[in-house]
Amino acid sequence: ALDISKLRDESGYVTLDIGYKNTGATKSAITFLDGEKGILKYRGYSIEQLAEQSTFIEVAYLLIYGELPTAAQLKEFEHEISIHTLVHEDMKKFFDGFPSNSHPMGQLSSVVGALAAFNPASLKQGLSPEEINTEIIKLIAKMSTVVSWIYKKSLGHPVIYPQNKLDYVTNFLHMTFGQRTEVVDFDPVVVNAMNKLLILHADHEQNCSASTVRIVGSSDANIYASISAGISALWGPLHGGANQAVIEMLEKIKLDGGDTEKWIAKAKDKKDPFRLMGFGHRVYKNFDPRAKIIKKACDDILEKLGINNEVLDIAKKLEEVALKDPYFVQRKLYPNVDFYSGIIYTALGFPTDMFTVLFALGRLPGWIAQWKEMKENKEPIGRPRQIYVGVKSRDYVPMDKR
Ligand code: ACO
Repeated sequence: ALDISKLRDESGYVTLDIGYKNTGATKSAITFLDGEKGILKYRGYSIEQLAEQSTFIEVAYLLIYGELPTAAQLKEFEHEISIHTLVHEDMKKFFDGFPSNSHPMGQLSSVVGALAAFNPASLKQGLSPEEINTEIIKLIAKMSTVVSWIYKKSLGHPVIYPQNKLDYVTNFLHMTFGQRTEVVDFDPVVVNAMNKLLILHADHEQNCSASTVRIVGSSDANIYASISAGISALWGPLHGGANQAVIEMLEKIKLDGGDTEKWIAKAKDKKDPFRLMGFGHRVYKNFDPRAKIIKKACDDILEKLGINNEVLDIAKKLEEVALKDPYFVQRKLYPNVDFYSGIIYTALGFPTDMFTVLFALGRLPGWIAQWKEMKENKEPIGRPRQIYVGVKSRDYVPMDKR
């Protein structure tokens, strides 16, 4: 049989696919995506049904363990999470140490990485499946506390401790927007919107951050280090950072008088580096099914909360103009999940620089599922090859001869 590795060693033969546009890195049973038809399914269940009928924590269970939970399994999962929501008191010093204007994503990746240092049991090699599961539960539990504390600290407010009798999403809202002593009654519209947004972001197969989590985890790095790396990957404006960039762009267009045609022309101008943020996707070349659900949710929430939003009007106008423009049509550029999510986050009361952190909170179960699957598949360390194009060989030149 042909031994490819031998061939590679002897002739320098490697496949080259910069950006992995057509290279599968793994076999996965978590998320199915058909970019041409605009289909997204978690473990075989359509994103439309899950967004409409499920909750974030149930979807987390589905992604991580592969099946929808029974009532008893869900109760147990929720209970396990609720007893791990506290973070070590000394970790509060991290939040005190960050400058008040430091970006929440920088804080999130460092604090999640630091969870490993506060939790030495997670560093043991050869953890049993039960021990791994405990770390998974702890991570889900502590993530919502950490995210809310980042927000509270940015305001200069005291942090709010978790209330374990609340469900995951309400507890998160309580720690973020609640009062110190009493539990505020959150409008079910707000709780539902938050659940929906988190579900829509929960996984997206081998995207940049999930691939990062898998590749870091493939070196046997602990789960906190792997997820922290995924958070850093998500931060970039071409990935999760786009949701912040979209709102900033829409605000700029609003201040500029709302001339959407002018900004579309700018996006098409190849000499101008500006891109229409929230448009285009590496895989979806028809439409992003998440964007459809979010657009509708956005309309519903603003109506129910009685908010008139000029930025939403600009977003809709941009979409309308772009979808008729041959530049966008030919390149199959459609609104992606980030185009409307920021408008909902704003309506719920989140500041712009928290948007990508909220994406990370939603994506956490997906990253965990990808990390766990990679471990269970016993995948080898990820290590791409390259085609060397640099200088072949030369002699060292002493400093005085350069
Ligand atoms: N505005 C204007 N032109 C665009 C845009 C855009 N948003 N997106 C792509 N194009 C153009 C490119 O200039 C290129 O044109 P060309 O063929 O004339 O050179 C063509 O469309 C193909 O674009 P690529 O960058 O090659 O497509 P790729 O698949 O590599 O990139 C990406 C996808 C990064 C999402 C890109 O569409 C983009 O930058 N979009 C804006 C940022 C954004 O919204 N990111 C969020 C993605 S979703 C997520 O991560 C959750």
